[in-house]
Amino acid sequence: MGIERQIEDKAKQIEALLKTYLPKEEGYQKTVLEAMNYSLLAGGKRLRPMLMQETYRMLGGMGHVVEPFMAAIEMIHTYSLVHDDLPAMDNDEYRRGRKTTHVVYGEDMAILAGDGLLNYAFETAMKAFDSCIVDEIKLGDRYEMVARALKVLGHKAGIYGMIGGQTADVEAENKEESLTGEQLLFIHQHKTAALIEASMMIGGILSGADQDTIDKLEKCAYDLGVAFQIQDDILDVIGDEATLGKPIGSDARNGKQTYVTIYGMEQAKAQVLKLSEEAVYILDTLCGDNQFMKELMTYLIHREK
Ligand code: IPE
Ligand code: IPE
Ligand code: MG
Ligand code: MG
Ligand code: MG
Repeated sequence: MGIERQIEDKAKQIEALLKTYLPKEEGYQKTVLEAMNYSLLAGGKRLRPMLMQETYRMLGGMGHVVEPFMAAIEMIHTYSLVHDDLPAMDNDEYRRGRKTTHVVYGEDMAILAGDGLLNYAFETAMKAFDSCIVDEIKLGDRYEMVARALKVLGHKAGIYGMIGGQTADVEAENKEESLTGEQLLFIHQHKTAALIEASMMIGGILSGADQDTIDKLEKCAYDLGVAFQIQDDILDVIGDEATLGKPIGSDARNGKQTYVTIYGMEQAKAQVLKLSEEAVYILDTLCGDNQFMKELMTYLIHREK
C-alpha cells in the first residue's frame, strides 16, 4: 500500500478513536460541547496523534495507555487552531474545509470551546491512569510514565511551548524592521514544533524508552516541526485553498514575517528538505521498525495540505 493511502487509513482510525473520547452534547452547556465537537471533527490530518502512536509502536509500546494522550494532543492542537483563527488573532474564516468555529458559533463560544478543549484534553489524558490498574494491582512504573507524559504535555502546550510561540507570532505582526533568524526560529519552534515534540516524546515515554531516546525524539520532532511550519508558510503563498481547507494569503494579510518573506521561496523549500532529512537521520539512530515514520516524514516534505 502506498504511503498516502496508509496515512489516510491511519487518520481514519485515529478519528474513530477520537470519537470515543468526545463529550456528549447535552446539558445547559450543550452549545460549547457542540462547538468543541464541530472543530474536532472537521477533519484535520491528525498528524500529532499519528506521530505519537507510531513512535509508541516503533519503540515497542503495547496496550492502550497511549490512546487517551492521542485524543488529548489533538484536542490541544484543535483548540490552538480555534483561537488562532479568531478575529483578534489571524482572523480566518475557513479551517479544515469548513467555516471556522467563531463564524458558526460566535466569538464567545469559540473562545469557550477553545478553553473547553484545552481543559478536557487534560481530563482525557488523565484517563491513562485507569490503564495502570490491572487486576486491581496498581502498576507503579506505569503510573510514573503517565505522570511524566502529562508533565511534557503541559510544558510543551504552555507558556514555554505553543502559547509562548503564538505570543511572539502575534507581537511580530506588522513590524517595520525585519525579524532576526533567531526570532523567527523561536516562533516556529514554539508555536508549532512544541506540540510535535510533545507527540513524539509522549509516545516514547509511554513505551518505556530511556532518557537518551527521549532526547533524540525531542530533537527529531523539533526538526520535523520547524520544517512543517516552514512548509505551512510556503503553502500560505502557493497552496490551493480547496486542497488546504484554509485560506491562502492569510500571512500577507496579517503582515506576518515568515521563512518565505525573510529568506525567499527557494531557500524556504531547501530548509524544509534539510530539516526533514535531519529528522530522518536522527530517527535512524533509534532502534525499532521505523519504516512508516520515515516514509511519513519524507512525504511531509512535499505535502500540499
Ligand atoms: C496547522 O496544523 C497549524 C500549524 C501548526 C501549521 P495542521 O496543518 O496539522 O492542521 P490540521 O490538523 O491538518 O488541520
Ligand atoms: C499557527 O500557525 C500555529 C498554531 C499554534 C495554531 P499559523 O497561524 O500559520 O497556522 P494556520 O496557517 O492558521 O493553520
Ligand atoms: Mg497564526
Ligand atoms: Mg493562522
Ligand atoms: Mg499558516
